Amino acid sequence: MDYMVLYSSKTGNTKKVATEVFSALPGMSKDMQSIDEYRGKEADVFFIGFWVNRGTCDMSVIDAMSKLHGKKVALFGTCGMGSDAQYYKSIEKKVNVWIPDDCEYLGMFLCQGKMPMQVRENYEITREDPRQEACRKKLLHNFDEALFHPNDADLADARAFVERVLEK
Ligand SMILES: Cc1cc2nc3c(=O)[nH]c(=O)nc-3n(C[C@H](O)[C@H](O)[C@H](O)COP(=O)(O)O)c2cc1C
Repeated sequence: MDYMVLYSSKTGNTKKVATEVFSALPGMSKDMQSIDEYRGKEADVFFIGFWVNRGTCDMSVIDAMSKLHGKKVALFGTCGMGSDAQYYKSIEKKVNVWIPDDCEYLGMFLCQGKMPMQVRENYEITREDPRQEACRKKLLHNFDEALFHPNDADLADARAFVERVLEK
């Protein structure tokens, strides 16, 4: 098998990007599975998708990545935070550290993904503290923007990422 796309997705955003990554991969020697259904099928190149959970990926992703040896590994993911290069870099550092040293790391693609309405309700609670007003407004604005992601432009960026990875 040339390519394996593995993903963890709680609410579907990362699955949407995973499907785009899968479709951008050339040839027939490829597969896509959720991390929960993955049983160790071999491939030369792994594209591992994760959703950002408190600044990093969830345990199932760490588990799957840690077991890869001698593979090429590219990461992709979605998070609530809109494009913030510094924040995205910090996530990359926290996640790619779990890729074993005998694998070749090929880079990461991250885009924004909508969040559950519960998160917005939590921002509303902080309304009672006027000192947090500016921060609350920023978070609400980010939340509302996230509702439209991943959008077509994100999927095009994911596709371009795959093309860059394949050139390596
Ligand atoms: C419990 C929880 C923790 C989250 N932590 C973060 C976070 O630290 N940073 C962030 O930008 N987004 C965070 N998010 C937002 C998700 O990463 C985002 O909605 C993502 O697109 C969900 O992907 P999925 O639909 O594939 O599950 C969090 C969401 C949940 C439910």
